[in-house]
Amino acid sequence: MLTAVWVAAAVVVVISLPRWLPGRVVALRGWVFTRINGEESITVPGDLVGVDRFREVYSHPAASGRSEGAALSDLFWYWLSPGPEMHQEHLEAGERYDAVALATRRILSVPRARVEELTRSCVVRALEGGRGDRRRVVRLRDLMMPVWAEFSYELVFGEPCPPHARDLIVGNADDVVTALKCCGLRHMDRRDRLTAYLVESLPRVKHELPAGLTTRECALYLQGAFFNTAVVQMSEATAHVLMALARHPDVQARARAGDDRYLDQVIAETLRLYPLFGIAHRITTGDIPLGEDVVIPAGSVLCFDYPAFHRAGFPDPGRFDPGRFAPGHAPVRELNHIPFGMPANRPCPAWRLAPLALRVAVREILRAYELDSTAAHTRSLPNRGPCLLTPLDPTGPAAARHGPGRRLTLLYMRLKDGWEDVWRSLVQLVLGTYMVWDARRLRLCERHFSGHARPEGT
Ligand code: HEM
Repeated sequence: MLTAVWVAAAVVVVISLPRWLPGRVVALRGWVFTRINGEESITVPGDLVGVDRFREVYSHPAASGRSEGAALSDLFWYWLSPGPEMHQEHLEAGERYDAVALATRRILSVPRARVEELTRSCVVRALEGGRGDRRRVVRLRDLMMPVWAEFSYELVFGEPCPPHARDLIVGNADDVVTALKCCGLRHMDRRDRLTAYLVESLPRVKHELPAGLTTRECALYLQGAFFNTAVVQMSEATAHVLMALARHPDVQARARAGDDRYLDQVIAETLRLYPLFGIAHRITTGDIPLGEDVVIPAGSVLCFDYPAFHRAGFPDPGRFDPGRFAPGHAPVRELNHIPFGMPANRPCPAWRLAPLALRVAVREILRAYELDSTAAHTRSLPNRGPCLLTPLDPTGPAAARHGPGRRLTLLYMRLKDGWEDVWRSLVQLVLGTYMVWDARRLRLCERHFSGHARPEGT
């Protein structure tokens, strides 16, 4: 009798693993990261700085250090290698940063019609290559990466992207984002192959490159901003919007039938609920006074928590509701909504181009497919957005699209995603702990600023 009870208890525990284990493992991973990286940071909003002063502190001129002086930077440099010292996001203010930021602005200043046309052609090409006439399950991030690889290539080189270059770019971007999410280790050979290609191809770049940089530094700058950040961020953003539509059929139907203004609301709400940055950090270069006797001292590490800020001040903040951004509600500038960062403190240089391109990409996919997903949709999207794409045949009956085959596929997707999550969370715990340790061992950022040579092979 006792044995039967134990067996039944064990069965219940095993069956319920997908419900509770991933969350516990994520919490454990956070604890391990803090232990290894040290508890040096001030989270904003938090005990010291509330939501009401989030913008003020983020915009403060002393909230300007990007890399030097934070143990956390060693981890980001590790993930973004090779060339994190040339990545615009991690360069300290100064001549070099100005030269790089100017080059980025020049490359991104593309007329609206050209952005739209380029996006459309990249999406159409990707869909044509993927057996567009059949129902299929895809991972949305994987579907989108070649699209944004080709898009970025064409922005930089001003000519269509050859398949070989597209594969190198996707190999690089996928490796970076997979490591960042602790779903896999770094593969420096994949990343170095792209660097070698860019060094060789530099004479073909259509734009003036940053002044004062060596050939290799220019290649690393392009790799960091355009063939890593641009490709990863656009793929993640598109995957999030499509995933939100796949999980909210009513919103999807309205977005498909409606105008661009509604699609913009969907995009704004998606980036509110699933901001691409979990945390953006700054190292204070001077004191930031908060009031009588309260000061954030120079050298502090401020961690700006986007998800917490984006939830504050919205009723029922966990609900996906594009209507929050409909005309008649508070103007966007008054909302706690900064998907592209703070205008006063190194915001995203693609804040104008990215939403335009995103809208066209989503519109093209909605035109071709009905989207369904029963997989989990979380901010870090470690499952890469499993989604069922059913070709839309305007002449065919909807019943044919909604038959038992579709229901079975969606049931299978839910079960598979739940169990994959159990395994993935354990992998993330082990690989994440290893990478945090390895980054602390290599100290790429600390060595750079102390003038020590980089270790071989990094
Ligand atoms: C929907 C897509 C995107 C979103 C939501 C996004 C979001 C952001 C955010 C929030 C920041 C500021 C983080 C901080 O304060 O530290 C940022 C910075 C940055 N983003 Fe984006 N981004 C997107 C697409 C792109 C694209 C297409 C590029 C192409 C080059 C890009 C390049 C950069 C760079 C270089 C920075 C650093 C800016 C600096 O420090 O001067 N992003 N992005």
